[in-house]
Amino acid sequence: MKVLVIGGGGREHALCWALSPTATIFCAPGNPGTAQCGTNLPIPADDIAGILDAVTSHNIDLTVIGPEAPLAAGLVDRLTEAGHKAFGPTGAAARIEASKAFAKELMAQAGVPSASSSTFTDEGEALRYIDHHPEPLVVKASGLAAGKGAIVCSSRAEARTAASQMFAGKFGEAGSTVLIEEFLEGEELSVLAITDGEHLLVLPSSQDHKRLKDGDLGPNTGGMGAYAPVSIATPDLTDRVEREILEPTIRAMAEAGAPYRGVLYAGLMISPDGNPQVVEFNCRFGDPEAQVVLPGSDIDILDHMWSIAACENWAPKHSRVEAQLAAVTTVLAAAGYPEAPQKGASISIPEELPADTLLFHAGTRTVEGTTTVSGGRVICATGTGPTVTAAADASRRLAEAVEFEGKFFRRDIGWREVARAGVT
Ligand code: AMP
Ligand code: GLY
Repeated sequence: MKVLVIGGGGREHALCWALSPTATIFCAPGNPGTAQCGTNLPIPADDIAGILDAVTSHNIDLTVIGPEAPLAAGLVDRLTEAGHKAFGPTGAAARIEASKAFAKELMAQAGVPSASSSTFTDEGEALRYIDHHPEPLVVKASGLAAGKGAIVCSSRAEARTAASQMFAGKFGEAGSTVLIEEFLEGEELSVLAITDGEHLLVLPSSQDHKRLKDGDLGPNTGGMGAYAPVSIATPDLTDRVEREILEPTIRAMAEAGAPYRGVLYAGLMISPDGNPQVVEFNCRFGDPEAQVVLPGSDIDILDHMWSIAACENWAPKHSRVEAQLAAVTTVLAAAGYPEAPQKGASISIPEELPADTLLFHAGTRTVEGTTTVSGGRVICATGTGPTVTAAADASRRLAEAVEFEGKFFRRDIGWREVARAGVT
C-alpha cells in the first residue's frame, strides 16, 4: 500500500516511521527524517491542489494528515470527493480544534466536563467580564494559533492585556473570537483515541511539557518533550475519560452532523481530587506526544487507519491499546525558540544510535548534503525502556549526543513520573 503522510515535523516523522514497516511511504513536504522512511514530495501541507495532484500521479492508496491546518481547511473532504481515501476528520469535524467556541458549545450540550468559560466577539464585553471574575483567568483565541493562543493570566490586568491584544489582531482572524476561562488546577494528561465516529480505540496516555524550561518554568511552547504511559491514567480513570468525555463527544459530533473520524486528542486536566476535565480538543495526533505514543505501543496503525478511511466495518478487538514500553522524548530546540528561533546551524548526529533510542527530525532540512536547523523545534530524541525513568535516561543521552550551535533542551522530561516512581 502507498501511503502519503502530510506534514513535515517530528509527529510526521514518527507517523512515517510507524507506517513504514507495512507501507510504501511518501511525505509532503516531509523533512530529512521522513526521507529515511520513503520519498519526500516538495508540496507544502496547505497546498490542497498540489496534494490532490500528487495523490493521483503517485497512485496513493491512503493519505494521512498530520497537522490541524490542512484538516481544518477541508483536505479530507477534497480528497474523498475526488474518490481518494484519507485518514483524518473532515473540515466540519476538525472544528473541534479549529474553533474553541464550537468545542465549548458542543461540550456544554453533551455534558462533557470542562472549565467554565464565556465567548466574546466584543472587546468591551470581554474586559467587563474579566473585571467581574476571580483571578487567575485563561484567555484564548478561538481559532487556530499554532498552539500559542492560550494565555494563562495570573492577574486581571494580564488578562485584560491578553484579550485586548487578541482583539487587536495578535493572532489574526483566530483572535476575533475570544474565550475567557476559569483556571483549572491539577495535572495535565493527553488522551488520544482513534475513532470511526462510533467506536473508540484509546491509545496509551501521555503527558506533554509545554513550558520552555526545567521545572515547568518559562513561556508556553509547542511542547518541549513528552512521555508515555502516565501512571495517573489508571484503568478506572481511563474508563471515566472514555465514558464521560470521549464517547459523549463523538456522539455529539454525529448529532451535530459532523461525524468524527480520525484521531481525537483530549487535552485534559486531572483535578487534585482525580476528576478529568477537558482543557482542549485537538483533531490529530499530538506533537510531541506521537513521538512517544507510537514507539511505546504495539499497534498496527496502518490497519486501523485504512479500515476507517475505507469505511470498512471497523471493530477493534479491544477498546484500548496498552503500552508495551515506556517512552520519553526530549525536544532539542534552536537558540531563540519560541520567539525567534535561529536557523541555519549544521547538525551533527551520531552515526549509530543506541538500540533503545529513536531520533525524529522536526525543524531540519538538508542544505548541500548537510542537515541544518530550519525551525524552532529541531529534533526529538526518543528513548524507550521498561520504565519512564530508564526511557528518560536514554532520551537525555541521545539529546546530549546530537550537536548543533545554540541547541538547548529540558533535562527533566518525565519528572512527575520519575518522582512518583521514586516514592513507591
Ligand atoms: P490550549 O491551547 O487550550 O491547549 O492551552 C494551552 C495550555 O494552556 C494547556 O496545555 C494548559 O497548560 C494551559 N491551559 C489552557 N486552558 C487552561 C485552563 N482552563 N486552566 C489551566 N490551564 C489551562
Ligand atoms: N503537544 C500539544 C499539541 O500537539 O497540540
